[in-house]
Amino acid sequence: MTDKLAIEGGAPAKTTPEPPMFPGAMEISEEEKRAVCEVLEEKVLFRYHGRPSGKGRVEEFEERLAEHLGVEHALAVNSGTSALIAALVAAGIGPGDEVIVPAYTFVATPAAVIAAKAIPVIAEVDDSLTLDPDDFEHKITEHTRAVIPVHMRGAPSDMRRIMEIARRYGLKVIEDSAQAVGASYKGKRLGTFGDAGCFSLQMSKVITSGEGGAMITNDTDLYRKARMYHDAAVRFWDQDSGMPAFPGVNFRVSEVTGALALVQLARLESLLARMRANKARIKSRIEPREGLQFRRIHDPEGDAAVCIVFYLPDIETTKRFGEALRAEGVGAGTIHNQGIPDRHIYNAWAEVLEYPRDVQKGCPFTCPMYKGKVNYSKDMCPQTLDYLSRTIHINVSPLLTNDDCDAIASGVNKVSAELL
Ligand SMILES: Cc1ncc(COP(=O)(O)O)c(C=O)c1O
Repeated sequence: MTDKLAIEGGAPAKTTPEPPMFPGAMEISEEEKRAVCEVLEEKVLFRYHGRPSGKGRVEEFEERLAEHLGVEHALAVNSGTSALIAALVAAGIGPGDEVIVPAYTFVATPAAVIAAKAIPVIAEVDDSLTLDPDDFEHKITEHTRAVIPVHMRGAPSDMRRIMEIARRYGLKVIEDSAQAVGASYKGKRLGTFGDAGCFSLQMSKVITSGEGGAMITNDTDLYRKARMYHDAAVRFWDQDSGMPAFPGVNFRVSEVTGALALVQLARLESLLARMRANKARIKSRIEPREGLQFRRIHDPEGDAAVCIVFYLPDIETTKRFGEALRAEGVGAGTIHNQGIPDRHIYNAWAEVLEYPRDVQKGCPFTCPMYKGKVNYSKDMCPQTLDYLSRTIHINVSPLLTNDDCDAIASGVNKVSAELL
């Protein structure tokens, strides 16, 4: 199988069932079917009507997620993108504001900033493939109001340094944990460091309801605003007296999503434990070799362990390494084997870099309140491009057997011995 997802996901090892190749989706079984069928049998799909027997599934999912991650509030929404937009709006980000995002993230991160009528400012990632704290600080201007650290491919950003810098400059922190549900940094769950944390439940994520997402926060005011924004009519369904009245949109989810999300949430810790064990086994069997450098993980214990990433000395070796690994039956992604622009790398974000600033009404770039002058170019983050161009990415499935893990490690060792 050729790799369709560039460095987001290498093809699975030979013995891994395909498709789907994503953790939560792979686990879908009788429980998910039963939970969805129950909703359909009851014929009550609207979250505010609840179950005939009591509390609705969406509400129950919100409560369980908040409890699981140790926060005050969780809000279920229809996507990770919606969670980001709701969090930004509720945090007071809007026209005239700059928001710093890493150069390596799904295009939805900067798109959410523009949807919130603010300006994304793109900063480098470092050898952890998460926001480089030095470049984050360097990119702060008098217009910066927020930062979105993205815990890419399940691994935590450097939250100690990012929080310290953000607090020093009085910036809001919205964590994009779309790809890192359940992961943590120094014993604290990702999404709970900043003002809000955002998750995706789309199919390729750690757990899934097909489409869906959630925002978490300890800030009751932010929560109420996000809740108001996520459903224009929420005050008519929900008698929360503290809810501000301002126009919202519709990011609401149905009870079908709630039912799926509840079952998948119950699978989260088991999925993480199996991926962590598999990753540890594979890594421990990869022989150290000059020229093969593992991605820096700020807290290996907290890593969701959805993948193994390492860097090679140059682009040419990386291309050949990826091909040779695939020939060995080891799914491996590089940014060179896709043939189309990668939606996770800033230089492919035409939606942002080439946004039609002169014609688009309501465009944040021409908003009279915006006094900054952001500039984009395809080569503006050379450090990010350098790391990504030398990256080999191997997905770690929870379904791998010990033999599968050993086969992946042997494949890497064989190709390393030939090419490095
Ligand atoms: C890092 C990142 N942020 C945001 C999102 C957006 O999530 P969704 O697709 O659920 O809108 C994704 C999803 O792929 C993602 O990977």
